[in-house]
Amino acid sequence: MELIARKGDILDAETDLLVVGMYKEEDWENPFISRLQAALGTKMKKLAKAQDFEGKPGQTLLFPAPDAMSTDYIMIVGLGKMDELPLSSIREAAGNAIQTAKKLGLERVAIEMFGEDDKDFDAAKTGRAMAEALLLADYSFSTYKKKKGANIKQIDLVAENGNDARRAQKAVESVQDVMSGVTLARDLVNTPAQDMTPTKLAEAAREIAASSSSIRVKVLDREQCAKKKMGAYLAVDQGSDEPLQFIHLTYKPKGRAKKVLALVGKGITFDSGGLSIKPSKSMETMKCDMAGAASVLGAFKALARLQPKVEVHGIIAATENLPSGKAIKPGDIVRASNGKTIEILNTDAEGRLALADSIHYASKLSPDAIIDLATLTGACVVSLGEEVAGVMSNNAEFANAVLVAAAGAGEKMWQLPLEQNYRKLIESDVADLRNTATSRYGGSITAGLFLKEFVPEDVAWTHIDIAGPAFAERPIGSYLAKGGTGFGVRTLVSLIENL
Ligand code: BES
Ligand code: ZN
Ligand code: ZN
Repeated sequence: MELIARKGDILDAETDLLVVGMYKEEDWENPFISRLQAALGTKMKKLAKAQDFEGKPGQTLLFPAPDAMSTDYIMIVGLGKMDELPLSSIREAAGNAIQTAKKLGLERVAIEMFGEDDKDFDAAKTGRAMAEALLLADYSFSTYKKKKGANIKQIDLVAENGNDARRAQKAVESVQDVMSGVTLARDLVNTPAQDMTPTKLAEAAREIAASSSSIRVKVLDREQCAKKKMGAYLAVDQGSDEPLQFIHLTYKPKGRAKKVLALVGKGITFDSGGLSIKPSKSMETMKCDMAGAASVLGAFKALARLQPKVEVHGIIAATENLPSGKAIKPGDIVRASNGKTIEILNTDAEGRLALADSIHYASKLSPDAIIDLATLTGACVVSLGEEVAGVMSNNAEFANAVLVAAAGAGEKMWQLPLEQNYRKLIESDVADLRNTATSRYGGSITAGLFLKEFVPEDVAWTHIDIAGPAFAERPIGSYLAKGGTGFGVRTLVSLIENL
């Protein structure tokens, strides 16, 4: 699919679906709409009335174009009130345009740059939001389907003003780089666990490294991880027949790096719960338990294209969590690579075990900061819902940088406290730590506190629990389909670019 921003008169666009926006209070006074009305006669208002179209955000009005125009269909999308056109309404409207084009099986879409006549209009910001929504909405996962989804070939984002068009085109180009990473992450998450094994994840990492001279990859096997005494990670792995893959990607910029950052992703390619087995309903979507790893890989794909001046490490301890005659048992005690012993009370709290050794490994790379992304706790979905990630950190300044990056990237995150009084809940009678807290309350926080035990005190660290937003069980708005969302990639890239 080709997406470009260009200057032009939207009504002259040669396309299949022509999309213009309308504000709620505009009442058909908009110059585009007036010209459209002139071309169509006055029936349009009647049509709108019949379909309750008032220009509210999310509303759309679709009709066939008159023969004199070089488009097949025209769609008016509601933008809400003019003086409060938020990026969320812009994204929603752009997503609606793509949904309609897909439904009609159209190949070309020309869409008006929304809000260009607003006094606060920022072509880069709007261009970015529109490009993101258009590309997110265009995504479909049809690897396993005979009937593939409709394929949009060309999207033109049309601005009236040449300067706006140029600025928007710049934004479009950088969005495309980031979205290549988001799309990769979505594909990796959507691919079923039978095909997205630890070995396949390592292959994906090798492919990324092969495509760029600034990225290298190293993959450790079980024996090498045993040498590094990664007893917690190995404990999760021991029930699986698939060979584990401990993946370490390194991106080095040309010239001096301003900072060193380590990205750690949870890479459980399937989480059955192990012997503390999950009920079947909860297991249905557990191919998504490598979404943190997918976001790290997605970020690396984008880094290769964006070439930031930061050294970045990507760490993924990939394995499956399965029950078997060899699986770890509740009551077993393991020793992590930092020397701490862990009593395993619930084998379904496996993410923190694999992350413990991953975080310790990352801390040995002399990073300025570590950030981990993990589908870690159902408790986080209970507290923040399906669209918001939980953020926990040992460093207020770094946490803030992550939250600012997330807000700018349009990814929803909310900070939770690493309450020290809850630390006693993960103390064990027989080991240094227990892998589940003695209270079922505050489960995301106790999981965060557990991870903190593996971070050196002088290293800034932020943990992002993406159990909710990594995988959409229902579509989100008009532009995010069910399944893997690629959540985290945009925040990581934006954070790295701002460092
Ligand atoms: N992978 C799950 C968490 C999860 C839940 C991710 C829902 C995505 C959606 C994790 O390994 C897990 O099972 N956590 C347990 C921890 C508990 C045993 C302390 C949970 O949340 O129930
Ligand atoms: Zn689990
Ligand atoms: Zn898990």
